[in-house]
Amino acid sequence: MKRLGILLSGRGSNFEAIADNVAAGSIDAQIAVVIANRAEARGLDVARQRGLNAVAIPSKGLDREVYDRMLVEELRRNDVDLVCLAGFMRLLSASFIREFPNRILNVHPSLLPAFPGLDAQHQALAHGVKIAGCTVHFVDEELDAGPILIQAAVPVLNDDTVEALSARILREEHRIYSEAIRLVLAGAYCVGGRRVTFC
Ligand code: GAR
Repeated sequence: MKRLGILLSGRGSNFEAIADNVAAGSIDAQIAVVIANRAEARGLDVARQRGLNAVAIPSKGLDREVYDRMLVEELRRNDVDLVCLAGFMRLLSASFIREFPNRILNVHPSLLPAFPGLDAQHQALAHGVKIAGCTVHFVDEELDAGPILIQAAVPVLNDDTVEALSARILREEHRIYSEAIRLVLAGAYCVGGRRVTFC
């Protein structure tokens, strides 16, 4: 059975949605390790409550290459096949990414390539877009830029706040992240340049 490694920094709701699907058998994999770069991340507590292997590797003050090597070691120790970034708010080094070619996924709360980086929902509101959404993509060496697996759109409403829009987007994140993991685990895709097609 394939082994997932989840990296998170905070609340961990995307991780919970993945864990629910794993527990229900609709993702045919097991969660081998949940790693947070902040010891106080809520997602770590959730992982422990679920009886999962939860590890804090604090990143504060550490050089990126040094930190990323610690991450790779923990993921290798747990024999991870697919790395899922779930609200992991750190850039990964090129050497980390080379360790898991086309084996790192991320979810981002915008229709990329619009609004990469922090506070994507705020950026969308500030720009005045009428359609917002989320993206699950392979991670490459650029920020929020790798080949796109799945996107979902939601409307921006007249009286939207960042909180209301974020909640609408988050429901879609929870849905498409698990869908993307299923597709990748099944190997039912081809990557040609930037384009991912399903077969
Ligand atoms: C999610 O909205 C995710 O898309 C975003 O952080 C949130 C984490 O929520 N990630 C990024 O902005 C990455 N660039 P969660 O901890 O409840 O899953």
